[in-house]
Amino acid sequence: MLQQKIEALKASFQQSLTEARLAEGAKKAEALAQLKSAFLGKNGGFTELMKSMKDVPAAEKPAAGKLLNTVKQELEAALKAEEEAFAAAKRAEALAKDKIDITLPAKKPALGSLHPLTLVREKILQAFLGLGFEVYDGPEIETEYHSFEALNIPADHPARDMQDTFYMADGIVLRPHTSPAQIRAMQQKGVPIRILCPGRVFRADDDATHSPMFHQIEGLAVEKNLSLADLKGILEVFAKTVFTPDTKVRFRPSFFPFTEPSVEVDVSCSMCGGKGCRLCKGTGWIEILGAGIVNRHVLENCGVDPDQYRGFAFGLGVERITMIKYGLPDMRLLFENDVRFLEQFR
Ligand code: PHE
Repeated sequence: MLQQKIEALKASFQQSLTEARLAEGAKKAEALAQLKSAFLGKNGGFTELMKSMKDVPAAEKPAAGKLLNTVKQELEAALKAEEEAFAAAKRAEALAKDKIDITLPAKKPALGSLHPLTLVREKILQAFLGLGFEVYDGPEIETEYHSFEALNIPADHPARDMQDTFYMADGIVLRPHTSPAQIRAMQQKGVPIRILCPGRVFRADDDATHSPMFHQIEGLAVEKNLSLADLKGILEVFAKTVFTPDTKVRFRPSFFPFTEPSVEVDVSCSMCGGKGCRLCKGTGWIEILGAGIVNRHVLENCGVDPDQYRGFAFGLGVERITMIKYGLPDMRLLFENDVRFLEQFR
């Protein structure tokens, strides 16, 4: 009796297993779980048979029990094999889907870079810091006094027209050059002094070579006995550092109210080496900055005795130097911040 029931259960199990095998994916997982509980679970068919053992006559018990156990193990093994095969298939499928194509080019991380104006400013500062200059910071919103009067430019003087100044409130301007830092530095630190003031300056001006905001670096050195020759020597070091080691420097007479004598400083063209080209407009020279011996009135305005001390000052435009160094046709490239342009300076 029991033996027949066992055989019947086994047959029914095998049929369910065959059906479960045909199922796919989540359905298959479900079918296998169901199979397990229906036959081997707490209320499963097999457990029921185990319970009915108590009604089997004592003489038949050992044989019946043995058979029950063997078949149970068979079913468990068959189920386990099926579960494992299913898990392996699932894994293989996932691996096939996740396949990485190692021949594809790698994605490059987006790297930032310093702005060309920052690069050139740092290069310029580096050249002068090596010569004993230190950085001095001045305000961008300045008094008219520091911007003009103290620099020997009286209110009615035509030299005020050299800069189209933005006037803010009464007596207050956006500094049109970094030269007021000369005054503040001398008043604060006294002499002897060697400073550089890098910073933003503002003028009512806007075209391909002028911007309402641009950057200057002011230089000032005051000692007992500085001359134009010292100025030239220092500017030569600067020009060779920023442009090429064979760059030459020349002075041309000029005028600034705050220097006397004043000079316009040219460097030999870095593109043609002085032969004459598009960049230097055929002259072989490019104007890069204004400079001179500090006017004695400026020293006096800062409480420095012009009979004891002498110094030189210069002021350069960072945009201009950057345009010359990299051959840029339009200053506005430096302010548009087009990534395709900026990336080239990495
Ligand atoms: N401040 C002048 C300008 O902006 C440059 C300059 C500075 C000239 C120092 C001489 C000495 O044009």
